[in-house]
Amino acid sequence: MSGRIITLAQQKGGSGKTTVAAHLAVALSRTKARVALLDCDPQGSLGEWFEAREARLGEDGTGLDFRTASGWGARREARSLARDYDIVVIDTPPKSDIESRPAIEAASLVAVPVQPTPIDLWATQPTLEMIAKEGAPSLLIINRALSRVALTEEISEAIRTLGHPAAETRLGNRVAFAASMGDGRTILETAPGSKGALEVEALAAEIRRHIGA
Ligand SMILES: Nc1ncnc2c1ncn2[C@@H]1O[C@H](COP(=O)(O)OP(=O)(O)OP(=O)(O)O)[C@@H](O)[C@H]1O
Ligand SMILES: [Mg+2]
Repeated sequence: MSGRIITLAQQKGGSGKTTVAAHLAVALSRTKARVALLDCDPQGSLGEWFEAREARLGEDGTGLDFRTASGWGARREARSLARDYDIVVIDTPPKSDIESRPAIEAASLVAVPVQPTPIDLWATQPTLEMIAKEGAPSLLIINRALSRVALTEEISEAIRTLGHPAAETRLGNRVAFAASMGDGRTILETAPGSKGALEVEALAAEIRRHIGA
């Protein structure tokens, strides 16, 4: 079986695509899977993170491989990487469906981070429609959840009402997620065993079940 492709997509900017892509890739690579990252966002944030990671851990110490692609080339590159790696994690840009559609088309699973606010959920509709059009399986991931906040529960309920598959695991709103990225690491490395690290591990396990990896 060729490798599985997980595409992070969400047209709403700043929902956590890049943060979740990096964290999932590191979590999945720790299960002995060979993992490649594919950055399709011309902003190149994931690439900057990866270069910082190489600088910190050495070229052989990142545990990951990294490529870039744009437009339709993403589909071709993703499928090519899936021949050599167990899991390919793709980061896509906000707004442009021209840039993200090929990565969605190639996906075994599209992971859609959404912040738990009504505005973010409304803004997710076009992404969900595009994913449905491509016929790709997808999973909403609540990101930056505030614990003990009624709004988070309301949005979770609204997602259940939508009937769209959503991950059981939510990622909390934690400065440690943002801070860990600065020097090319993840919360798994800067705060192992922390609540945030456990959330990422649980999410990775859930996603592995979805993709059968
Ligand atoms: N769970 C979290 N807790 C705290 N901060 C977070 C979390 N997830 C993401 N962030 C922060 O939110 C901001 C946006 O995250 P990120 O860049 O990953 O989103 P994105 O969807 O990739 O954005 P873009 O659409 O611009 O590509 C960043 O500053 C990031 O550090
Ligand atoms: Mg991004």
